Amino acid sequence: MTVPFHVNDPQAIIEADRAHVWHHLIQHKPFETIDPKVIVEGKGINVWDITGKKHLDAVSGGVWTVNVGYGRESIANAVRDQLVKLNYFAGSAGSIPGAQFSEKLTGKMPGLTRVYFANSGSEANEKAFKMVRQIAHKHFGGKKNKILYRDRDYHGTTIACLSAGGQQERNAQYGPFTPAFIPVPHCLEYRAHEHGWGELSSEDFGRRAADAIEEVILREGPDTVGALCLEPVTAGGGVITPPPGYWQRVQEICRKYEVLLHIDEVVCGVGRTGEWFGYQHYGVQPDIVTMAKGVASGYAAISCCVTTEAVFEMFKDDSDPMSYFRDISTFGGCTAGPAAALENFRIIEDEALLANTTAMGDRLLGNLNALMEKHAVIGDVRGKGLFCGAELVTDRDTKEPLAEKLVQSVVGDCMKQGVIIGATNRSVPGRNNTLCFSPALIATADDIDRITDAVDNALGRLNA
Ligand SMILES: Cc1ncc(COP(=O)(O)O)c(C=O)c1O
Repeated sequence: MTVPFHVNDPQAIIEADRAHVWHHLIQHKPFETIDPKVIVEGKGINVWDITGKKHLDAVSGGVWTVNVGYGRESIANAVRDQLVKLNYFAGSAGSIPGAQFSEKLTGKMPGLTRVYFANSGSEANEKAFKMVRQIAHKHFGGKKNKILYRDRDYHGTTIACLSAGGQQERNAQYGPFTPAFIPVPHCLEYRAHEHGWGELSSEDFGRRAADAIEEVILREGPDTVGALCLEPVTAGGGVITPPPGYWQRVQEICRKYEVLLHIDEVVCGVGRTGEWFGYQHYGVQPDIVTMAKGVASGYAAISCCVTTEAVFEMFKDDSDPMSYFRDISTFGGCTAGPAAALENFRIIEDEALLANTTAMGDRLLGNLNALMEKHAVIGDVRGKGLFCGAELVTDRDTKEPLAEKLVQSVVGDCMKQGVIIGATNRSVPGRNNTLCFSPALIATADDIDRITDAVDNALGRLNA
């Protein structure tokens, strides 16, 4: 295919970028000698960089976001039509797309009824943390204010979100952190040995990893613990699918100790795992769900903190002037987000993208498992829907992680082949060794095979 765009003086853009743009989560020293990457155009599952090179994007915009793929004119048109009608009004008032999208969204989430709009995953999680803290003050004498989070999970970039972050390499050097965020152990079965719980079957490990949460609640005092915040499938911490029985036991524990269950669907939400929401695979009923990335597939900034009516009702005591949720998000009042999200949801429904995600996810997982037969460097393959990971090790018996430099060389090799894949990046020390795959939900069988063929080639060269 020919390059679909023309850029006047691409080198001037690159130099402006090099001189003035501070890119996210990347060391800039190399840009003194090599050009920073500039992405110019996208169509379907592909993007083109400023040199005209085409890439198959196997990570949906780098961070599992562009769920319905690039170049969706119907979303752009919906946003444009809304912007010329009403671009913004503060969220203390409603808007037509806000009301319509809230109805649509909660229709996909039985048991949840209320949508609080914000702009980023971090911000949605901050809203949830504030709700939990305010409920503690208002209904539990200020005591039930501790929030549990899990080792290896990530909930965002703000100081409070990092306080709830189980990835030490994201947190290092940014403390001191917010008090009363308490860690619980991870549930990665492949590294179950790290817990010292002895040899366990999958089911027993699932139960044991959840029981570890109960132990933390008992240690801290159940009357001090307000919420448990978990990713349904841990994303940037290594694509960690939960072991069997884990979620059912987590739900039992939360109910037993009146701990609100806050599920962070920022990555898993909106189809990524083959259900509308990741938690829906596991038969749990959360009290609070946060979401961002795939909500509008990156066509507009939007995040949501969705709650049950019971949570919402706790903020309605009008005899107390301080009882309502005294929070605002200026850009949570932008109408582009819900307008884009409504059209994004229509596309997912009309194009049956959940079914495609399940089918193509099975193919991706199958292909990765086949690569594991061929390449000893793959120690474990995990995934749910179009959200898969392959953990690389130097030795399958010791499970010694492959050096990060070599993991990155696999990513770089795929990039040279025109396929963008991801890898855990500044997550847990010594654990940046999982390749990540999260193509758009429109991926075809050919796309999936191209992705895993590129990985096959790259691993072949790594072993050579
Ligand atoms: C699970 C999870 N929660 C929250 C966030 C934070 O979202 P944002 O970057 O939009 O603030 C991320 C970002 O990667 C995430 O992976």
